[in-house]
Amino acid sequence: MGLGVVTAVPTALTGVTDYSQLDTPQQRTGIVHQGANAIAAGLYAASWFSRSRGHHGRGRVLAFAGLGIAGVGGFLGGHLSYRQGAGVNRNEDLPEEVPAGWHSLGPADGFPPGRLSPASLGRVPLLVLRREQKAGAGPDVSVLADTCSHLGGPLHEGHLQEARGELCVVCPWHGSTFSVRSGEVVHGPATAPQPAFRTRVLDGRLEVSLTGAGE
Ligand code: FES
Repeated sequence: MGLGVVTAVPTALTGVTDYSQLDTPQQRTGIVHQGANAIAAGLYAASWFSRSRGHHGRGRVLAFAGLGIAGVGGFLGGHLSYRQGAGVNRNEDLPEEVPAGWHSLGPADGFPPGRLSPASLGRVPLLVLRREQKAGAGPDVSVLADTCSHLGGPLHEGHLQEARGELCVVCPWHGSTFSVRSGEVVHGPATAPQPAFRTRVLDGRLEVSLTGAGE
């Protein structure tokens, strides 16, 4: 019980960090969730104290009260994650949405170099960045899923920025920063990377394939 009470403190701190990046309805649930868990931790701490003084009957009552309140807090935590989608990777189902193989996004010249451009592959919104190339060099195009893995912000409305020595796109909603080439998270609050597509230009048309998908 003592271990549980002590480890509740860092657990609450991670919850506070998550809270700062939630939207308003999620924050409302988060406050009640956090309050219930704080009360439960307090009851368990009181139970621990009572038992250490030899008051085992009172300790049991306090622990059962803590269990009941922790149940309410746990229910709200589940609601926050499963119903309200807090902390969920918005691109988790992308591999099911994108058929295997290469898919055309249209003429490569239709994407202005150096600009974040939106595109779509069926129902999947994409972000396209074509870079200026030296004469004679092949086309250099990066394509990421456009829906930010954090809370679904449209990345094509963000901006480009150098970070950790590579070109990154910054989400317009909460500033998550992703490598344009790999989709890896350079700065949070996002924790899941953006799916990155393989690209090629055939006969002037830009084609994409989801990394890992079959040819
Ligand atoms: S939606 Fe929150 S950082 Fe993109």
